[in-house]
Amino acid sequence: MALLDHEPTDTRALTQQRFERMTLAGGDSLPAVDLEGLPPGPRWPAAVQTVALLRFRHWFHPWLHRKYGDTYTVRLLPKGRPLVFFTRPEHAKEIFAGDPEVFHAGKGNAILGPVMGEHSLLLQDGGDHKRARKLLMPAFNGHALRGYQELVTELARDEVAHWPAGCPFRSLDRMNTLTLEVILRVVFGVTDEKRLAALRPRVNRTVNVSPAVLMVWTFPTLHRFGPWKAAVQNQVELDELMYAEIRERRTAPDLADRTDVLSRLIREGEETGDRLRDIELRDQLVTLLLAGHETTATALAWALYELGRDPELMRRTQAAADAMDADGDAWLDAVLKESMRLHPVIPMVVRTLMKPQAIAGVDVPRGATVGPSILVAHSREDNYEHPERFDPERFLGHNPPTNTWIPFGGGVRRCIGAGFAMMEGVAVLREVFKAVDVTTVGTDEPQVRNITSVPRFGARVEVTPR
Ligand code: HEM
Repeated sequence: MALLDHEPTDTRALTQQRFERMTLAGGDSLPAVDLEGLPPGPRWPAAVQTVALLRFRHWFHPWLHRKYGDTYTVRLLPKGRPLVFFTRPEHAKEIFAGDPEVFHAGKGNAILGPVMGEHSLLLQDGGDHKRARKLLMPAFNGHALRGYQELVTELARDEVAHWPAGCPFRSLDRMNTLTLEVILRVVFGVTDEKRLAALRPRVNRTVNVSPAVLMVWTFPTLHRFGPWKAAVQNQVELDELMYAEIRERRTAPDLADRTDVLSRLIREGEETGDRLRDIELRDQLVTLLLAGHETTATALAWALYELGRDPELMRRTQAAADAMDADGDAWLDAVLKESMRLHPVIPMVVRTLMKPQAIAGVDVPRGATVGPSILVAHSREDNYEHPERFDPERFLGHNPPTNTWIPFGGGVRRCIGAGFAMMEGVAVLREVFKAVDVTTVGTDEPQVRNITSVPRFGARVEVTPR
């Protein structure tokens, strides 16, 4: 099937157009914000607060909470804009349930524009976001998730079979390799070995692009130099491969039977008549890749780290993996949830206000950003008894009170891949603990890596076949 009339076939031109458009879109068009009446916060220069929030969040969030109480304000670059944090569950509810026309989430992700593209679910707001979410949702519902499970299990089994026995390794690295394979095979649905081999390094370079490169990427004159030139070239090559895959998939003879996310998205559009264009499919696929790969790998690495420190919990997890039944899965699910509670992969979610809004009785002006602190929500003693302990029992057989466990955010912007991540996580834990004994090597602590918090030393473990 040919491309739609208005879509150029020159993929290099499409990539270039995206860089140009997203350069302009990244601009800050909101008015300056008056800090009068906002909750208290540090008086340090905005640059210092920005660095503290981005680089030292594991210390900064709890410190802010202790010093200023349940709501506090930090000021960030550019222009010293306020970001007001709310840490109580009832206040998180007010934000998550807020009118999506007023509580915009896309603005905060503008820096990802050149890579993800303007059609990305993460960057859109209002009606555009609603439409994209509606088109993507069916590929992430319960029925679809069950369809992905077998392939995820196979990939996990194959990965674990290659782990070196008795030789410590960084579980985060292995999990990253595995979740990347899951995205390529289960989400993109790529099966051709040559194309997989070409995609892997380019996808890796895209995922690893540093915030420093992203931040200055919006100056087109820099595209000819050093790291920006390499990043641009990598994007051009990745886009070429992705467009080739998308175009071939539209005409694949087995399209109707395929269960991968890309094929589902193509079919969904054909059925509803609201067809996602190639450029939209590319943007959504890159978004799923960036949002779904390292996040899930990190949650899994932390789970291994915690289980490998406690032989009793490990034995219980092995018994659950062997059981292959609903009770066993409930335990694996609880392990993953507790791991994400104790080690939130993402520290906060934010919304920028398009109109003045009262939240928790505070009048917050237009242009300010608000958000629940996931880090604080998960470690408040009134939400979790002995919050510092790793205890999967907390989640066994029951859900935590609303908005006390928010690793996937909430409301209309709640992570669309939450069910996918849980399905994948449980399948991977099952395959790991069916096959090996895991012992953690040394201790670890969270470290900021782009937007995620990863184990600084890679959650090192040693395994022996059972
Ligand atoms: C443990 C793994 C994961 C964690 C901790 C995580 C966390 C999050 C969080 C906190 C958000 C923002 C929610 C908000 O603003 O309220 C989000 C959004 C998103 N996530 Fe995930 N995620 C994970 C896995 C995945 C996976 C596997 C995928 C896809 C395959 C995915 C795709 C997305 C997308 C597309 C969005 C944007 C949703 C929207 O704006 O409507 N994530 N995720």
